[in-house]
Amino acid sequence: MKRYLVMFLSVIMFLMFGCQKKDDYNIDYLVLVNKLNPLPETWEENLRTEHFTNSVGDDVEVETKAYQAYLQLKKDLENEGIYVDLDSARRTVSAQQEIMDSFIEKYGEEYAYKTVAVPGYSEHHTGLALDLYLHVDDNIIYENEDLVLYPEIWEVIHSKLPEYGFILRYLQGKEHITGYAYEPWHIRYIDDKQIAKKIMSQGITLEGYLGKVIEEDVIIDLGNSEIFSKDELEQMAILIKCNFAKLKDCQLHSLRYASDEASTDDNLEWINSLEEDSDYVKVAEFLMDFHSPKQDSGSLKPDFEYKDYQYWLGQDENGDFSIVSYGY
Ligand code: DAL
Ligand code: ZN
Repeated sequence: MKRYLVMFLSVIMFLMFGCQKKDDYNIDYLVLVNKLNPLPETWEENLRTEHFTNSVGDDVEVETKAYQAYLQLKKDLENEGIYVDLDSARRTVSAQQEIMDSFIEKYGEEYAYKTVAVPGYSEHHTGLALDLYLHVDDNIIYENEDLVLYPEIWEVIHSKLPEYGFILRYLQGKEHITGYAYEPWHIRYIDDKQIAKKIMSQGITLEGYLGKVIEEDVIIDLGNSEIFSKDELEQMAILIKCNFAKLKDCQLHSLRYASDEASTDDNLEWINSLEEDSDYVKVAEFLMDFHSPKQDSGSLKPDFEYKDYQYWLGQDENGDFSIVSYGY
């Protein structure tokens, strides 16, 4: 009788734990979501998350393992006198749309598209991307334009990321691959310290690590201008690079400011004629060298070395830049 009872209990235990085993949590922590790759369709079916309330009273949702790793990172940073909190982690597609709308209203379309992902294409949908904010001397440093003013703090934070399975996602100078301007606050959990160490120590992107792009050196030449400041030239270059990241399998070689000679009244009139209701006050030309993909290049010639491909930008009276035209 005792033997039957043991067998019966074993069957019950197998059914309970055996079934749970099948339900093992198994997400792809190296999933790539960027301007070319949307959130995988079945992602949310499998995702496990935690909720908590941050210091400004917002509910923040994070993938479970990423949250545990974040708490360890946070504790380590506190020992160094650095206090971080989470502004936002997992975002639904509709939450992303709200952010996009508010950025367009606050900063204009071009800034919004180089800073905020199109809903459905944000890494935040995965629950693995975390936006940090800082507490410095009893002040909450929360807005992007204020966060960038603390490079020494970010340097310490970034140096500790791999130890907890995180990487920095949007690197300075890699905008043509990631599609976004530098974001010191946006960290990404990949659940593998060795891979994180490799990515961070080599200064490469997740796209590069996964073999989606070849990370070669790109020559950026902002030239000399008496019309545009260094900062404005840099803004235009970043805008072009963020736009370039949407071209699948194109390899960027160089980008340079053409010359002040392109900023003529005729060219200004021409770019204003290309868009309805536009009122650009300045015009700028940039030139790019790149290689097109071997196949499926859309409007580009396949496997072709483009030289002096033109980008024309307009600056409006608020100082904001837009790409108005590009071509060969
Ligand atoms: N700020 C990042 C790119 C996002 O919106 O997903
Ligand atoms: Zn982010």
